Amino acid sequence: MGQDISIVSTASSHLKSIAAIEIQVSPHPWSLVQFSESLANHSCYTLLQGQAVTGYAVLSVILPGTDGEAELLNIAVLPECQGQGLGRYLLGFCLGRLAGRASRLFLEVRASNIQAIGLYLGMGFRQVSRRRDYYSLASGGSEDGLLMMRSITHGE
Ligand SMILES: CC(C)(COP(=O)(O)OP(=O)(O)OC[C@H]1O[C@@H](n2cnc3c(N)ncnc32)[C@H](O)[C@@H]1OP(=O)(O)O)[C@@H](O)C(=O)NCCC(=O)NCCS
Repeated sequence: MGQDISIVSTASSHLKSIAAIEIQVSPHPWSLVQFSESLANHSCYTLLQGQAVTGYAVLSVILPGTDGEAELLNIAVLPECQGQGLGRYLLGFCLGRLAGRASRLFLEVRASNIQAIGLYLGMGFRQVSRRRDYYSLASGGSEDGLLMMRSITHGE
């Protein structure tokens, strides 16, 4: 990982850069409006290298409390910065922020998203179910979604 990396709570000034990354990394990108709504309703974090936005994560705490549940709604790293440990760093930060606020973190991922599944398995998530034909493909047809989960312990 390079120098001068930080993670901060997302500010509205980050949203244009976040939406620009999203278009590059997602087959069905969230819009700027969706990110703005997330800022109002969820916990949003921005990965910075210097002042440049290089990643983001969006968490929803569904049932707050020490036995509660949270969901990772979105996570991404700028393509040219991927493969350097930043995704792991960002997800680890999110887990830390959830300690004491939820006991389980869920997420959904396309069955073909090998990078993301590798990240999640390496960070202690396990598959809890498979949703057949959950995602539509731009080319037509559909693909399965994997529901994954990991426990969150205090002091993470
Ligand atoms: C998923 C994503 C956030 C991972 O971020 P990253 O910075 O590239 O990941 P890291 O460098 O921290 O790597 C963490 C782990 O991810 C997996 N991984 C990363 N790149 C991979 C690749 N090209 N192929 C297979 N596994 C890969 C590995 O398990 C890796 O662990 P390792 O280095 O010990 O092998 C990033 O690929 C991304 O932004 N993808 C597009 C958006 C997306 O799909 N988000 C998830 C939606 S559910």
